[in-house]
Amino acid sequence: MTDLIISEEKIIERILTLELVRVTERAAVSAARLRGRGDEKGADQAAVDAMRRELNRLPIDGTIVIGEGERDEAPMLFIGEKVGTRKGPAVDIAVDPLEGTTLCAKDMPGSIAVMAMAKAGSLLNAPDVYMDKIAIGPGYAPGIVDLDASVEDNIHAMAKAKGVKPGEITALILDRPRHADLIAACRKVGASIRLITDGDVAGIIFTTQSEQTGVDIYFGTGGAPEGVLAAGALRCVGGQMQGRLILDTEEKRERAFKMGVKDPLKKYDMKELASGDVIVCATGVTDGALLKGVRFGRDVVETETIIYRSVTGTVRRIQAEHREMSKFLLD
Ligand code: FBP
Repeated sequence: MTDLIISEEKIIERILTLELVRVTERAAVSAARLRGRGDEKGADQAAVDAMRRELNRLPIDGTIVIGEGERDEAPMLFIGEKVGTRKGPAVDIAVDPLEGTTLCAKDMPGSIAVMAMAKAGSLLNAPDVYMDKIAIGPGYAPGIVDLDASVEDNIHAMAKAKGVKPGEITALILDRPRHADLIAACRKVGASIRLITDGDVAGIIFTTQSEQTGVDIYFGTGGAPEGVLAAGALRCVGGQMQGRLILDTEEKRERAFKMGVKDPLKKYDMKELASGDVIVCATGVTDGALLKGVRFGRDVVETETIIYRSVTGTVRRIQAEHREMSKFLLD
């Protein structure tokens, strides 16, 4: 009987879970209107405006801990900005209103609008720097891969745990010159590599659905904010992830220190990147393997959203049809 009693805090959280859908849906629709226009900034701004407007309607006392940058360079959704009606629970908010700006501008697969919400103090306040990351999906013994182990050791460990040969392991890596050595090391051990041009939040999430995506492990350096968002999603479905901020200049170290990072070389595990009860919500902007993109019909706009909730491990997919499109886009 006691498990049927849900605290007021949990009820609010359950309601908010579904409220977040509206936030990423509207950011995605606004960005999608500028799909394929070659205008990265315009699409990003449209997503930011829509996301901020929707966040400010939520009954939360929210603080942006991962946003569009620091106050002096980002007028909206800057780190530290307060969002919501302030009449509700104190929460940390991490946003990436348009993850994969280039993908959207070129109408290529995989851009999404994504955000995470957790109790205040639960999400790593990561500055907008790079992060070294490694991630695998659920079902493996803790610690079988490690950011500080060699690529060879990590792939051999994955292969052993999966009961396959290293040649049957697929690693997902961002296609960047900085990853030349990493790619060469993976190839040397015989692993297959899936290269992506952008969008490593979804890239990391792919490891949690390896049966469908074929991806076993994510390696490499991408954005730190994206690392925290991906860790939030992994928290909900299981999996393992580690990240280390790349603070290679005095200026970056100072910025990170101001945001509460005491050890610049710290290796964060998934629960340190996103702790407590976390909700992650993403809506497709362009079609991708994780989510369908926004469809603009004659009288209807269609969206697909995925929401992860760590407290229960529930993952919901919401296919929405929005009628009165012009009203929807303006209100
Ligand atoms: P944006 O949406 O900010 O362009 O980020 C896209 C992305 O591919 C992220 O998914 C990734 O973490 C990061 O850029 C990698 O950074 P870079 O493009 O500088 O290598």
